[in-house]
Amino acid sequence: MSTKISLTRYLVEQQRVDGLIPSQLRLLLEVVARACKGISQAVNKGALGGVLGTAGTENVQGEVQKKLDIIANEVLIEANEWGGHLAAMASEEMDTIYVVPNRYPQGEYLLLFDPLDGSSNIDVNVSIGTIFSVLKKPEGLAGVTEADFLQPGARQVAAGYCVYGPQTTLVLTVGDGVAMFTLDREQGSFVLTQENVRIPQDTQEFAINMSNMRHWDAPVKRYIDECLQGVTGPRGKDFNMRWIASMVADVHRILTRGGIFMYPWDQREPNKPGKLRLMYEANPMSWLVEQAGGAATNGRQRILDITPTKLHERVSVMLGSRNEVQRVTSYHATL
Ligand code: AHG
Ligand code: MN
Ligand code: MN
Ligand code: MN
Repeated sequence: MSTKISLTRYLVEQQRVDGLIPSQLRLLLEVVARACKGISQAVNKGALGGVLGTAGTENVQGEVQKKLDIIANEVLIEANEWGGHLAAMASEEMDTIYVVPNRYPQGEYLLLFDPLDGSSNIDVNVSIGTIFSVLKKPEGLAGVTEADFLQPGARQVAAGYCVYGPQTTLVLTVGDGVAMFTLDREQGSFVLTQENVRIPQDTQEFAINMSNMRHWDAPVKRYIDECLQGVTGPRGKDFNMRWIASMVADVHRILTRGGIFMYPWDQREPNKPGKLRLMYEANPMSWLVEQAGGAATNGRQRILDITPTKLHERVSVMLGSRNEVQRVTSYHATL
């Protein structure tokens, strides 16, 4: 019988091998994984757990919050605030940063998260997830402010997500490739089920919300139009389309079998670069995709090179199979 490698054993062995996971970071990742287990339990209860429907409040994004948005946010705050590994946290569901209270020791890491991604799918029983990103608190000044979070995605020290679907799967990188862990509910632990995840360089599958087509910029319209012309068109092959409207589920599919995911700028909100949030959606997903051999740009530059100016900054996202991302990015340079 092959030995099951738990998340804990994987992190300990990674630490021994490449030193990428200092003990405080290992604790952080284990605490986040445990919080995701708790969120998964709440998700699985659905109507039986009173977690469906809206909370009647609005978040800083101007979105009506679902009950599970708030529950997941609270689970992550409560799980992480006492451990001594964090200085502060930031969340899609909180206007500003949450500094670890003085009654607890402060650590050297900053944790950012989208506690519940795909909220529009909660009540219709479609896969949703949690996305997280870890930065180091800049050396020096005592205390921590929002400005400490405004680092480019290239400075992340860990990133991952947990997708609550037919399986609950945690996907993680610390800069040495991408590993996947499936929750063994009998043991209550995440078990390594794939490592060295690789995204095919080419694909015949794109993910975009087609209902926004009339609002897109010319380069995206050109790219999708060429895909839709199929084998007799300029691409010389037929394309399939998937759009789950949970970024975690669409990205998980791309990490598993390739594809390109796009949420581009559109003229519905011309002053916003896109719908998705840079710090706790685009950055962690972009690092995972790059660590798996894919690419991630905003149409003009590598997402991980963008220096944020605001905590809840939005960004246009094109990520996945490298050759497709490079193609649609090249169209932005010429159009
Ligand atoms: P969230 O539920 O955290 O607000 O994120 C939803 C995002 C992302 O998960 C998904 O890809 C996208 O919104 C779907 O947008 P549309 O509903 O406009 O297709
Ligand atoms: Mn939201
Ligand atoms: Mn989200
Ligand atoms: Mn969310």
